[in-house]
Amino acid sequence: MYSRIIGTGRYLPERVLTNADLEKMVDTTDEWIRTRTGIERRHIAADDQTTCDLAEGAVREAMSAAGIGPDDVDMLVVGTTTPDQIFPNVGCLLQKRLGIHGCAAFSVEAACTGFIYALGVADKFIRCGDVKTAVVVGAETLSRIVDWTDRSSCVLFGDGAGAVVLQAADEPGIVSTHLHADGKYKDLLFYPTGVSKKTPDREDMQDVLTMRGNEVFKVAVSTLGRIVDETLEANDLDKHDIDWLIPHQANMRIIKATARKLDMPMERVIVTVQEHGNTSAASVPMALDLAVRDGRIKRGERLLLEAFGGGFTWGSALITY
Ligand code: COA
Repeated sequence: MYSRIIGTGRYLPERVLTNADLEKMVDTTDEWIRTRTGIERRHIAADDQTTCDLAEGAVREAMSAAGIGPDDVDMLVVGTTTPDQIFPNVGCLLQKRLGIHGCAAFSVEAACTGFIYALGVADKFIRCGDVKTAVVVGAETLSRIVDWTDRSSCVLFGDGAGAVVLQAADEPGIVSTHLHADGKYKDLLFYPTGVSKKTPDREDMQDVLTMRGNEVFKVAVSTLGRIVDETLEANDLDKHDIDWLIPHQANMRIIKATARKLDMPMERVIVTVQEHGNTSAASVPMALDLAVRDGRIKRGERLLLEAFGGGFTWGSALITY
């Protein structure tokens, strides 16, 4: 038993924040942002829009593309680190919106790797025969936790949501998923506030996303290189066997480094970072949906999805679309 993607969707909030807008907010330039990151603009959720609102838009599109209704869904898994509230989790909130009742619904918290983790979890449930149809989402409102006075991080992030519908199939589909984490890097990229730890344990720690960008960059490049090797080796494939790379959209320079590792021309890499910035868990499913809908990705092609994020967490999925 395998799982395969039978529908994709994405949702972006309407409001667009350009590099020119950011020039008015912090001491930065369009030129600096573009050359260091590749980002030109990002979408920001309206004041009254939540992660669940964005997720709902993406899931409705994915379910419609898959031709399924609420009664067909056996499981809902949402990758997010910016939930509307601690509980009910975003999966449950989504159930209510979509009129889905009774199936398991939960969130997976793995920062920018959230969608890959959610996909890995749902794939396992389908493979073992417990679930026939699963909705898998990556959705974030990172703009809510970004420090809009910190030029070194606020220029990077944006909001959005992407979703896929997975269904049981005799052939892959999802060939393999590879999930990893190493908490020793917890201080390089974090958001300090939770529930049980109300008081930041360092005086200089503020209630905002905090990042040591340069160090994150270096670990991301080497780690993503390793996960590409691991995925190819696990499936006895050569790097030239991959048709499309769908990377986490954090930074154009990180994306290009992974493409080089795969010896892949940039025409075979789905890139949205210039339009969306880093949307964390939403970035991979949104890029996938874009390239499916514009006809670049075709049935039968081999896709390599990868992501890296706070934790650090990282992961990949090899998919025959
Ligand atoms: N505009 C202008 N200058 C900026 C700036 C901005 N938005 N942000 C930082 N700078 C300045 C710094 O203050 C520093 O100035 P200094 O040399 O006078 O001290 C200089 O630019 C270089 O800073 P540095 O952090 O070394 O730049 P960098 O080349 O590493 O690029 C990032 C910064 C954040 C773009 C890069 O490190 C990065 O992309 N890291 C990965 C982040 C990421 O992807 N995180 C999410 C992972 S899922």
